[in-house]
Amino acid sequence: MTMRSLLSDHSHYVESFHLFLENSTEHHCMLEFIEKKLLGILSSIGNGKSAINVLSVGGGAGEIDLQILTKLQAKYPGVVIHNDVVEPSAEQIIAYKERVANTSNLENITFTWHKETSLEYESRMKASKEMRKWNFIHMIQMLYYVQDIPATIRFFHSLLEPGAKLLIILVSGTSGWARLWKKFGPRLPLNDLCMYVTSAHIEEILDGAGQRYQSYELPSDMDITDCFIDGNKNGELLLDFLTETCNFSKTAPLDLKNEIVEDLKKLEYSEKRGDKYFFNNNLSAIVIES
Ligand SMILES: C[S@@+](CC[C@H](N)C(=O)[O-])C[C@H]1O[C@@H](n2cnc3c(N)ncnc32)[C@H](O)[C@@H]1O
Repeated sequence: MTMRSLLSDHSHYVESFHLFLENSTEHHCMLEFIEKKLLGILSSIGNGKSAINVLSVGGGAGEIDLQILTKLQAKYPGVVIHNDVVEPSAEQIIAYKERVANTSNLENITFTWHKETSLEYESRMKASKEMRKWNFIHMIQMLYYVQDIPATIRFFHSLLEPGAKLLIILVSGTSGWARLWKKFGPRLPLNDLCMYVTSAHIEEILDGAGQRYQSYELPSDMDITDCFIDGNKNGELLLDFLTETCNFSKTAPLDLKNEIVEDLKKLEYSEKRGDKYFFNNNLSAIVIES
């Protein structure tokens, strides 16, 4: 059997992604950032306005989006929030709509979903010459799936109203992910739909373009202890997520598997607390000024 990308099997990907969310502080650290930092950062976007326009690029199933929106709503009572979502996955849009339907107190927030990629949105906007502007645009954990990242950032930045902000969240250049990709990336079956990109790359791009931005490190970890228990189902799914490989344990060459599993215990990747191992899942939030 040969190794193949986890993204080539959608249901397998979703299963391992959910396990990752359960085993990690991924969403928790984002929520903390939203509460403690983001609301302050966005303090200028709603002042004196009767409506705030928010664009979510790659909003997924909307967990984080709704957190952002309800916090904004509480901060600007009575102000209408228009939230547009650019999301290519039909399944994710269905899940997002269900979440909205099952959440109370979303009055004053309108939702519009566009089933398309960021590039399709860009082409559609350019063709329509409409170029709607936004008070806040976010791209959370999605730039991995974009081919031309500098052009994408440039385009969405051009859609900011004066005083508006563009938020990018990606894994940090200091995370275990960055080390894992650097060392093992060439031996893993990544397809061209997903790129090994970290906040360090984004900062290089922004520095090169002379953009003003601010970075925040979001400490996060993932309990990977199960990965070291032979035959453990959850451990295997987490290994699939870490290596972005379908059935990694069964399809990887033995030397590669042994090397990765041994490496994951090392301090460059994980911290040991008691008898548990926590993979460094640090994220970075980059806020770009208009
Ligand atoms: C890892 S999920 C992140 C979802 C959500 N932002 C979160 O942090 O929970 C990435 C999302 O980006 C979407 N996506 C993939 N390629 C995209 C593209 N080219 N343009 C916009 N969204 C994309 C995927 O369908 C998926 O919902």
